[in-house]
Amino acid sequence: MNWKPAILILVMGLICCAVVPSHVAAQEQNLAPTPPMGWNSWNHFAEKINARTVRAQADAMVASGMKDAGFLYINIDDTWEGKRDDKGFVHPNWKFRDMKALTEYVHSKGLKIGLYSSPGPKTCAGFEGSLGHEEQDAQTYADWGFDYLKYDWCQDTGTPEQMKAAYTKMHEALKKTGRPIVLSLCQYGWGNVWEWGASVGGNLWRTTGDIEDNYDSMARIGFGQAGLEKYAGPGHWNDPDMLEVGNGGMNEDEYRTHLSLWSILAAPLIAGNDLSTMTPYTQEMLTNREVIAVDQDPAGKQGFPVVQEGPFEVWEKPMADGSVVVGLFNRSKEAGKMTAYFSHLGISGEVIVRDLWLKKDLGSFQEKYSVNVPAHGVVLVRLKAK
Ligand code: GLA
Repeated sequence: MNWKPAILILVMGLICCAVVPSHVAAQEQNLAPTPPMGWNSWNHFAEKINARTVRAQADAMVASGMKDAGFLYINIDDTWEGKRDDKGFVHPNWKFRDMKALTEYVHSKGLKIGLYSSPGPKTCAGFEGSLGHEEQDAQTYADWGFDYLKYDWCQDTGTPEQMKAAYTKMHEALKKTGRPIVLSLCQYGWGNVWEWGASVGGNLWRTTGDIEDNYDSMARIGFGQAGLEKYAGPGHWNDPDMLEVGNGGMNEDEYRTHLSLWSILAAPLIAGNDLSTMTPYTQEMLTNREVIAVDQDPAGKQGFPVVQEGPFEVWEKPMADGSVVVGLFNRSKEAGKMTAYFSHLGISGEVIVRDLWLKKDLGSFQEKYSVNVPAHGVVLVRLKAK
């Protein structure tokens, strides 16, 4: 027997059978190994978003260094939707004439792009929802070249069973397209979504109502995440809503608290400001790699409070390298001295402390680290046993 052709046939057979159909490959893909990072139009632009502005945000994400710092998605929120044609296909409205050209532009920058819809008949802003058109819409988004879908309940009521069914339907429809598309569930935390969001295909799920650009709203939502840490992990994340950093309603200490807390929470970091006009301070904040590294740590552990005493809260996030990130948060309107006791954090002996906002080693400490924390502010440190 001539063994050469036999081996060739065997190898070809193996190759043929090892080739997985693309839709199966896509299903297997872990779409969000670390919390998604990007930008979304809603918090700053709301209904005043259009294709030109989206392109400008993509340009700014690259020019500002945010892309290099890890921001990836440019997400269009509500109000892009036009009418359906007589075959049921949804079309963008006059603000977004050519979706394919837009996704190609964003992709050409090395970024990815996201879109928004609702499982109901209408979106929250009253535009066309996907009800009854799930497969058709998923295919349309895939054909246009989208990589991420925020799917927003936008109905006054709904049982967890109805929600699970609706989200599963869209998850299946997205899978069927064969295109990897991140699925972001938005139903404001109803029915303890953190308990079932991953099982219906969600890569992230909103845990609360909408954030507002003020300290009280941000703090209520952020500190309110305590207890949800066991539901987050690689591929599936609690989402306490998008960032307000740079939108003007909070001072610098408060925005530092916002970003520090979201990073300790391993929350999706979806900027919500106008990236094309941000101040150098906002830009520096959003590109602080040491803070982003806390959020993006590969262990994917959501942090939790270790001490809550009046307005003082000490939060901890265990990191993959064995170090511990600690946020000393002062929720009062007065500056105050705070102390992190290493015994509360499970560390002993000599500990090296690095301040992540100052990007500076503060030295070695025993037992505890004390610091003055500004009103509504934070000191964010990374501790490593020596
Ligand atoms: C809801 C969502 C927001 C935004 C708007 C758009 O309120 O929670 O994040 O998507 O709808 O209409």
